[in-house]
Amino acid sequence: MPLLSVAELADAARIAEIHMTAFGSNAMLLAQFPTPAVRNALKKSIEMKALADIDDPKTTVLVVRDSSLELHSSNTISADNEQTHEHRKEQVIAFAKWAHPVRLDEDYIEPPWIWPTGTNLGILNDWAKKTEAAQSRALGDTPCYRLLFMGTDPAYQRRGAATMMVRWGIEHSRKDGAPAYLESTLEAASFYRNLGFVDVDRISLEYRVDGAETRSIYEEEKATIA
Ligand SMILES: CC(C)(COP(=O)(O)OP(=O)(O)OC[C@H]1O[C@@H](n2cnc3c(N)ncnc32)[C@H](O)[C@@H]1OP(=O)(O)O)[C@@H](O)C(=O)NCCC(=O)NCCS
Repeated sequence: MPLLSVAELADAARIAEIHMTAFGSNAMLLAQFPTPAVRNALKKSIEMKALADIDDPKTTVLVVRDSSLELHSSNTISADNEQTHEHRKEQVIAFAKWAHPVRLDEDYIEPPWIWPTGTNLGILNDWAKKTEAAQSRALGDTPCYRLLFMGTDPAYQRRGAATMMVRWGIEHSRKDGAPAYLESTLEAASFYRNLGFVDVDRISLEYRVDGAETRSIYEEEKATIA
């Protein structure tokens, strides 16, 4: 049964693994981190950022664990004596990062990303500017709960893990009277709509990957819940 909890430092490597599996085919990730070597290094950057975010009082990193029954055979003297042990193994199957509301007068700086060598910083910074402008259009300076990243291991999708993690943000936003805000891939937009989010904006970036002849367009939805 999937169980929601706050992440521990020991979960950081698994969070990075799920991030890369869940977003591995995302066009923006492939444009920003254009080679297998850069993406391999990115996994370490994600792990380091997860460690910092888990320690950050203004970020809640959530994980969902699922327990599965594993059967272990342990060889003793002969095959006749072989013993089978049942063992419950809990593993992280999904993660989400919720940034807490921060007032302008608060002295807070989000733990920085350290991008790997070879990152396409042009595309990364252009996209960051677009997303910042979209949040400002949607909410101005209003402090909000903001979903930074969320992913479920594809082998464990559609078991309700992401729903639990999004509901955590909705409940806290209602309790604190601050809106919840997120950026969604087009594929996941209907998932958020079903949970009550309303599309407020769509942003797109036209970019050209090094060596490519044509330009590509990447789009995402911005959604909010009041
Ligand atoms: C989006 C994502 C996090 C959903 O994770 P999940 O744990 O499978 O979600 P849930 O099990 O809580 O899904 C509940 C419902 O949402 C809907 N849903 C889930 N994923 C969906 C998807 N990719 N497309 C459309 N609907 C989806 C389904 O209706 C599902 O209900 P069902 O099982 O009855 O069909 C996961 O698909 C993922 O990691 N995708 C890649 C990364 C990504 O897009 N992250 C979010 C970007 S902001």
